Amino acid sequence: MKFLIVLAFAAVAAAAPLSSEEADLLKHAWDQIKHHEVDILAAVFSAHPDIQARFPAFVGKDLNDIKGSAAFALHATRIVSFISEVINLSGNHAALPAVKTLVNQLGQNHKNRGISKEQFNEFRSAITNYAASHATWGDNVAAAWNHAIDNVYAIIFSNLDGHPVA
Ligand code: HEM
Repeated sequence: MKFLIVLAFAAVAAAAPLSSEEADLLKHAWDQIKHHEVDILAAVFSAHPDIQARFPAFVGKDLNDIKGSAAFALHATRIVSFISEVINLSGNHAALPAVKTLVNQLGQNHKNRGISKEQFNEFRSAITNYAASHATWGDNVAAAWNHAIDNVYAIIFSNLDGHPVA
């Protein structure tokens, strides 16, 4: 019983929206890397080739050969722009329904592509390492960053389990 209560609190804590201070820290860090689209996707592919292998345009290709291509820039920009869109809406309680809709859609179309939670966690660790080494970083920024990803991933994982978040 005690365990269930702890679990329930953990779930509530994870779903709590970001405070405006956390949103400011997150935006400040993201602003420093949000135009590094190609480098971010290359860092993800380089750390986790199994992610690269899920992209029909890039499977089986040498990262050094594709990194400078227009197709790579296009994909990188799509992914990073999505993250920018969600981060721009963070800290604004009125925007929560919009965030939910956007992230439910992302979760659903990645479920349809057969992407696993493990791969999402790989993506998380690669992009977090990138941010920590290319933006001004500290415990407070890391806490805001992780809080944001916990919230977004709760929605994505729920979709991967077949339950869009209402
Ligand atoms: C939070 C993490 C992620 C974000 C924000 C993200 C974002 C996106 C976006 C915006 C698109 C293009 C539009 C769309 O169809 O939705 C896309 C496509 C795609 N994503 Fe992700 N993605 C993430 C994680 C992953 C992971 C972990 C994988 C694979 C292991 C993956 C594989 C793909 C594939 C295969 C496509 C289709 C590419 C194509 O059109 O050829 N994504 N992603």
